[in-house]
Amino acid sequence: MTIEVIVVPDLGGVDSVEVIDLAITPGARVELDESILVLESDKASMDVPSTSEGVLSRYLVKEGDSVTVGTPIAEIEVHSVGDPSDSGGTIILSDVESNSETVRQNHQNDVKTDSIGRDVSDEVIIASVPDTGSSEALEVVEVLVSVGDKVCEGDTLVTLESDKASMEVPASVTGTVIELLAFESDKLSTGDPVVRLKLNKADAVLDEDNGAGNSVEPLLDPPNESMPNFGTDENVTIAKRAQTEAVALAGAIDYSSSDVYAGPSIRLAARELGVDLTHVAGSGPRGRITREDLNSFVAQHISAPRVPSSFSDNMTPQPEVDFESFGPVERVGLSKVEILTARNMQQSWSTIPHVTHFDDADITELESFRKSLSDEAKAKSTKLTPLAFILKSVAIALRVNSKFNRSLELKSNEYLQRKYINIGIAVDTQRGLVVPVVKDVDKKGIWELAEEVHRVAEKARQGKLSVVDIQGGCFTISSLGTLGGNYFTPIVNLPEVAILGVSKAAIKPFWSGNEFQPRLLLPLSLSYDHRIVNGADAGRFMGDIRDLLSDIRQLTMF
Ligand code: COA
Repeated sequence: MTIEVIVVPDLGGVDSVEVIDLAITPGARVELDESILVLESDKASMDVPSTSEGVLSRYLVKEGDSVTVGTPIAEIEVHSVGDPSDSGGTIILSDVESNSETVRQNHQNDVKTDSIGRDVSDEVIIASVPDTGSSEALEVVEVLVSVGDKVCEGDTLVTLESDKASMEVPASVTGTVIELLAFESDKLSTGDPVVRLKLNKADAVLDEDNGAGNSVEPLLDPPNESMPNFGTDENVTIAKRAQTEAVALAGAIDYSSSDVYAGPSIRLAARELGVDLTHVAGSGPRGRITREDLNSFVAQHISAPRVPSSFSDNMTPQPEVDFESFGPVERVGLSKVEILTARNMQQSWSTIPHVTHFDDADITELESFRKSLSDEAKAKSTKLTPLAFILKSVAIALRVNSKFNRSLELKSNEYLQRKYINIGIAVDTQRGLVVPVVKDVDKKGIWELAEEVHRVAEKARQGKLSVVDIQGGCFTISSLGTLGGNYFTPIVNLPEVAILGVSKAAIKPFWSGNEFQPRLLLPLSLSYDHRIVNGADAGRFMGDIRDLLSDIRQLTMF
């Protein structure tokens, strides 16, 4: 690895210019020719491109400094091909001193070596959030390490939680925590830094010498390169926290407005935060918007009244009742899943005009066929319940009645027609209701579906669902089959357009045309969004499900 120092290039005869914008977050990767800093004279501004690609470890100047040709402005860590410390995408910052006076300095002289010449300098590695499979930021609900802790590969560093799942971020290397970069309540996305770990190569070399043979491979992801540069870590966190609110407040946004006088990193940060820069007053020379201006705009909106953050915020206040005057009570906090479920339910119920369509499927034959397979199910160590057949029937009905596989987009007066069939299954867990998604249901067989339902349901009950497991649903099935009851009115799981409630099958008299016969009838309740689905659509969709379940030979025809 070498450290390259970028200097102020030829200024075309201008003596001194002002640094007006540091465009990169220290620790982030820069590409060759990418602008790292903006300079401004009385007459013009210019971008200073990077002359190397690597990691920008630090700036040697700050905004407002006056610089001249040749002034060192930033250090870039360059990992050459074949460098043993460069493990493909891993950010490794060696603890080395660099000399800012030297314009291009080969860093190899600073690397500590052992008696036989092996590199034993300490490496500092930024552990970051692996691919979450989601563009949504996840909340840090627990930080499990402190500065000074020794962690082993696989140890959990932090726990993240999204709407309905939690995920642990493990250490990919063994080392010592030297700095926490994420804290409880922070919102993190793929690639965001979590902790700084010191990996003592000397120890690794010693291990090798002792025959351990497990040289520690740094395998962590790079920090999020797109994270806006807000100068300090604290500001980054505040800015990211404000992002959702800022987007909601900004309304129609024109990030590229040429009327705005701001540097590229301010524009980038504003874009990522959803801030319309035309609303931000610039306090810099000639009205230029500075980082402080953007920060204070964001901070102002954090403290201003904003969009509801709790599911109860936009409800009519409940009447205050002194429950204790009637007897002892206990106050218990809702789990995160319960809070989010309540919020989603309320949003769905108050925005979707729901209609529920009821019907019965005669599953007498289905049940005798299913029961005849019980030995086979045992041999396969799986459980075959009516749900696998219901899933398959719904998938076929969704394919035939594509309206039920849409999502309404009111802002564009459009709907999105999905070309895939993923179905969510409501699972009752101790932490609340969660909805893992079974993917590509139409392409899977009954046994495969039976296995998958019970695998995801088990994962849900153990709180081990990942973000990917709960994403991408097109339709939801809520089965209360074991609990009794006839019908119910399930609430549509936004942004889907319909949900099928399944109640307990029971033997009931069925008029065959000549006589009443005892048949096993399965009560079905289909709730749908009446903005996109009408009653006739629902009748056809439900009719297809009913007919497929009543004569499962039909399932083989699709
Ligand atoms: N009618 C009669 N019996 C039914 C039935 C129905 N509609 N659905 C299932 N059963 C039977 C099964 O056949 C099984 O009996 P068996 O072992 O004799 O074959 C038994 O009930 C238990 O089934 P279960 O283990 O619950 O499996 P499942 O595949 O039916 O359901 C889940 C799996 C995950 C959906 C279910 O366990 C669950 O969590 N349901 C709750 C969903 C919920 O809370 N919805 C409300 C949302 S607001």
